[in-house]
Amino acid sequence: MTVHDLRLERSRRPAFDAVSPALRRCAHGVEYALLRDGEGGELYFTRDGWAMSESLSPRHWYQDQRFHRVGRALPGATGSVYRVPVPHAARGDVGIVVKFCRFGQDVGLTTLGAGSVFPWPEALMAEAEFLGPFEEFGAIHRLRERARRTPHIATKRPLAIHVPAARFAGWQLGRADYRLERQVRALDADQRRTPADERISYDPGRIYVLLYSWVGGIDAEQAAQAGLITNETMMDLGREAAGAVAAHGFAVLDHKPRHVIVRPLADGRLLQRRGRTAFALIDYELLVPWTGTSPASRAPRADSPDSHD
Ligand SMILES: Nc1ncnc2c1ncn2[C@@H]1O[C@H](COP(=O)(O)OP(=O)(O)OP(=O)(O)O)[C@@H](O)[C@H]1O
Ligand SMILES: [Mg+2]
Repeated sequence: MTVHDLRLERSRRPAFDAVSPALRRCAHGVEYALLRDGEGGELYFTRDGWAMSESLSPRHWYQDQRFHRVGRALPGATGSVYRVPVPHAARGDVGIVVKFCRFGQDVGLTTLGAGSVFPWPEALMAEAEFLGPFEEFGAIHRLRERARRTPHIATKRPLAIHVPAARFAGWQLGRADYRLERQVRALDADQRRTPADERISYDPGRIYVLLYSWVGGIDAEQAAQAGLITNETMMDLGREAAGAVAAHGFAVLDHKPRHVIVRPLADGRLLQRRGRTAFALIDYELLVPWTGTSPASRAPRADSPDSHD
């Protein structure tokens, strides 16, 4: 199989649809272009990520812990999430979000916001598990497709999944094999019809890093703390976002106002769209299909045979 090296090919990068089939991958309904980073690591670019693939090179945000040294850890995160400026040919530099995938870890870590009254029953939380990286990109990809229809939801764009070469013991990554099982099964089921040498499978000993676009703005909790909105408005925004997600057949099991990004204007008011406060939804590590009123009416997950759209 030909291996293209990110460092070598900058100037000759083909358009996404012209990338050689040997480098094309597909998982949970998302198409990828796969490149290797010269150290044995892999980079799976989505179509949006490929359009800025040079900026997403690990040397701009991963090597020598640049996400930590040049980037900043995002306040309010219970996981490892960073905003990192990376160079961009046309725009000088752009902010990306570097999020270390928590699949296989105990969800008990994350918290629900105060007064989290959402359309889906809290009991769903009991079954919550962090999605695998390819499943997370698959879920947000589907939500983005549906959210083009009303109620429209702005989201952050999934750009790439980086799998550095280094290997660790599961406990070093805070993972439990039994928690990985379902995601491993789901990806294997998804890849069942893919030729063997093009199949993607999870390696429980490796880190998976999700790259997303940065959404300019602050989260609704920060806006309330800054006195730009009342707590009541903050909760309304949280409920509105949850209602929109549910309308498209999904639930975010740990939804909270911190997952709702608003855009303050120079005069301190928030950006409005069609007479309502404009917002974007972030954080999809617990974004699951849900189409009903009770926990039982949860839509089938990726590993059940009839989930292939
Ligand atoms: N793409 C983005 N654009 C703008 N702000 C972001 C973006 N992603 C994250 N943030 C900011 O970083 C904070 C933490 O991000 P995120 O919710 O993804 O972390 P987390 O570790 O999943 O936390 P938790 O699951 O407990 O909510 C958000 O509340 C928000 O303020
Ligand atoms: Mg989260």
